[in-house]
Amino acid sequence: MYFRSIVSRQVGTRPTGITGSDSLDRVSRFAHPAGDRHAEVLPEERPPHAPADLNTLDPTIWPRTSNRVGGSVTIGGADVRDLVREHGSPLYVVDEEDFRSRCRDYREAFADGEVHYAGKAFLCREVARWIMQEGLGLDVCSAGELAVALSVGFPPERITLHGNNKSLAELERAVETGVGHIVADSFEEIARLGFLADKHGRRPQVMIRVTVGVEAHTHEFIATAHDDQKFGFSLSSGAAAEAARRILALPQLELVGLHSHIGSQITDTAGFEVAARRLATLLVQIKEEHGVVLPELDLGGGYGIPYVEGDTALDVKEIADGLRGIVANVARSAGLPVPKLTVEPGRAIAGLAGVTLYEVGTIKDVEGLRTYVSIDGGMSDNIRTALYGAEYTARLASRESSSGPMLSRLVGKHCESGDMVVRDLWLPQDLATGDLIAVAGTGAYCRSLANNYNYLPKPAVVAVKDGVSRVIVRRETEDDLLRGQL
Ligand SMILES: Cc1ncc(COP(=O)(O)O)c(C=O)c1O
Repeated sequence: MYFRSIVSRQVGTRPTGITGSDSLDRVSRFAHPAGDRHAEVLPEERPPHAPADLNTLDPTIWPRTSNRVGGSVTIGGADVRDLVREHGSPLYVVDEEDFRSRCRDYREAFADGEVHYAGKAFLCREVARWIMQEGLGLDVCSAGELAVALSVGFPPERITLHGNNKSLAELERAVETGVGHIVADSFEEIARLGFLADKHGRRPQVMIRVTVGVEAHTHEFIATAHDDQKFGFSLSSGAAAEAARRILALPQLELVGLHSHIGSQITDTAGFEVAARRLATLLVQIKEEHGVVLPELDLGGGYGIPYVEGDTALDVKEIADGLRGIVANVARSAGLPVPKLTVEPGRAIAGLAGVTLYEVGTIKDVEGLRTYVSIDGGMSDNIRTALYGAEYTARLASRESSSGPMLSRLVGKHCESGDMVVRDLWLPQDLATGDLIAVAGTGAYCRSLANNYNYLPKPAVVAVKDGVSRVIVRRETEDDLLRGQL
């Protein structure tokens, strides 16, 4: 629970018995020298200086309704101190208005196409309801995600099933329930779909996942369009064209389009444009070879969001106009009707709506380097930093501070030294045990990648709106952790 300890104000004093008397007084939290040393301990691409004001909430990074009221951060009109008092810490907080407004931004920008929210970013029953109410479709990539959607009555025809290794049972569930689109990812899957379509007397609409060979400027683990990886059919090897031949040879399957997803957290729009052009070109080739005009192109997701100051914030309208223009040009110059465009944003809808709140525990100075600020969560509720070096902005949230900056590392409570939530950040020097830290941009790929490492229960997710908070996913309990064991 939230409390602010007076004992913590003594953090930084050294235990007795340590020699080297001079250095005992030079405690990095309070007397860390500015300048060269910072440059050495900070990555080159980040400026080695603190922001002018450690209290600001950059509106491009923090949820659209976030604010500071009387010093404390509020989200959706709810004070973070009240949220933690009521729901505990750590806590995932989702700004419902932010989430819904980004759905609307995408819907408006792609008004003549379809927007499917990629559920992998963060899906729970309430989020599926929001998506349904905002008129978006939904992408799922497992029977579990499909079950969440169906459990709230999400219309199956507005769902697309993805995945590089869908099981027979998953494919069967999708065929049986009449899922709108199934994106074929391998030759085995095409054969399985043919078999299942016969078995259930249905004619599923199928797309082909094309690996378009685009170098997406993002981390290797979230880049998906180069040939040397597990997703899709390669365009350059001819596998994608062969997939079209095989699907078209099975009358029980309806080939409706091509799909590409080049990766995630992409902020250079050139990659999307190359992918759109290549996909549209394949559409033309399929028409030439088979006389079949495929009516749909799905360009996937991957739209990056700003996590730290200086990151690019993409303009969704500009992206939509650019992609539409490219596809229309390629189609028209081949005398084809312009296909319907679908996009699948996940992070761009959920990412900035979410903030994680943590309570500060131990604070340790590593003299001359930085201060390690331990929080009550870590790589179990946010593994992105450990997994692929994600960067975040974090702020002291339970109060304002006018104290100077200290170079810090926000670390978790897990038994791994790679357990960091924010590798490099500046926090006020008067930070104390019991303060609350808010980490911005955690709405996507944090709860969905959460785990129980060290048997930590997963935090609750609360939605906030108009000053009211609602638990939309309850905190796990010890019983949850023990359930299912002998
Ligand atoms: C097929 C597909 N579509 C959409 C997405 C969503 O990506 P993002 O959350 O970056 O928009 C992903 C993410 O991996 C994906 O694999």
